[in-house]
Amino acid sequence: MKDIQFSMLRNKEIIVGVCGGIAAYKTAELIRMLTRRGANVHVVMTKNAMQFVTPLTFQTLSGNPVIHEMFELFRGSKIGHIALSDIADLLVIAPATANIIGKIANGIADDFLTTMVMATTVPVFFVPSMNTKMWSSKMVQANLHKLRDAGYEMMEPASGDLACGTDGKGRLPTIEEIVERIEDIFTQKDLVGERILVTAGPTMEFIDPVRCITNRSSGKMGYAIAKIAKRRGADVVLVSGETSITLHRTDIPVIRATTACDMLDCVMAHQKESTVVIKTAAVADFRCSNSNCQKIKKKGDTNILNLELEKNPDIIAELCKIKGDRIIVGFAAETENIIEHALDKLKRKNLDLIVANNVAQEGIGFGSEENEVTIIDRSGSTKQVPRLSKDEIAHIILDSVKKLIKKRHRVKTD
Ligand code: PMT
Repeated sequence: MKDIQFSMLRNKEIIVGVCGGIAAYKTAELIRMLTRRGANVHVVMTKNAMQFVTPLTFQTLSGNPVIHEMFELFRGSKIGHIALSDIADLLVIAPATANIIGKIANGIADDFLTTMVMATTVPVFFVPSMNTKMWSSKMVQANLHKLRDAGYEMMEPASGDLACGTDGKGRLPTIEEIVERIEDIFTQKDLVGERILVTAGPTMEFIDPVRCITNRSSGKMGYAIAKIAKRRGADVVLVSGETSITLHRTDIPVIRATTACDMLDCVMAHQKESTVVIKTAAVADFRCSNSNCQKIKKKGDTNILNLELEKNPDIIAELCKIKGDRIIVGFAAETENIIEHALDKLKRKNLDLIVANNVAQEGIGFGSEENEVTIIDRSGSTKQVPRLSKDEIAHIILDSVKKLIKKRHRVKTD
């Protein structure tokens, strides 16, 4: 099954170098995920790596022959390592052991992988994994320093239980985090300098400590916008309602907000530094004015429970009162007369853009992997975006935001 996610890895030639560490078995999943996102993966193994995993595993998953012999492989008239690095878009070394880090930092090329690293002109991305004492040793740290200075891409290992029985820094980061960083490498950084505040997910309004009024937002649309904005170089802060989504990035601060009033506080606390605000969150318009601090008990034969609701603050409208130069994008979750209602919200709330979606339609909107939207600007002009993954929709929304940013700059400099 192909991964439904939109990916910058489609049709990319990625070489994965595998070294001799216990985490080598996890590289199998990395290869699977890269191929599912459309990359053509070629695996190069060191001799030590073959003590942990057989080439057959990687060959089966990548669909390409695995290279492990220095002098065996020639491609036409070309030497193997040169030919392979010539077609590559990226070289990933995962797990990168202390040994390979030391060799490359010191210019040693004594096997296929190290020789290829010396011969390549494409980015090389190291994903180190080793025992925590090895990781913190002066020699390894000095070598890592050298590699960073030489312009190699690098990921920090994660902390936790290690296979050698110790606990500390040295674990291979999760495969999702590694793939996210690889997506970063291929994504054009056209939003550098922008500080984007995104809200996502539902709010919850408590009736009593165990019951609440909420909605079906999963947070997927807002998380996709936060992730893609970060990939495109923006500084991103995400204010999130209760969701079960994992972002797979540690460089986006996530601020949790349960109720609409919490969300208002969080948005107000972070809006000052932002240049763009994108309000994807599905905020409850009302909250219980008589919410109980104890669980409500059934009373006798009564079949009716009356709840008194009071209006929540309209966060985006509050924000627009103090918007200044900021670009503010709202979403409109509609079930009928989509464009008409969305346009009314855009005008009433003084937004710069509104993204309208039909939340009554099966397979899009709430909880789905895909969405289909119409982006409307202040002049009323509309851009129809067909059904696509939420990552693709995020890119298209951010393209519209970028156009507005450019327009603002032009007006300022005129
Ligand atoms: O999270 P997913 O499962 O991926 O689903 C995505 C989504 C359907 C939630 C998303 O695409 C979407 O439509 N989000 C907006 C939902 C919503 O609350 O729409 P609205 O039409 O009620 O509100 C209009 C705008 O005002 C929104 O930007 C909303 O964040 C904002 N608002 C609304 C009420 C309120 N009290 N404060 C607000 O800021």
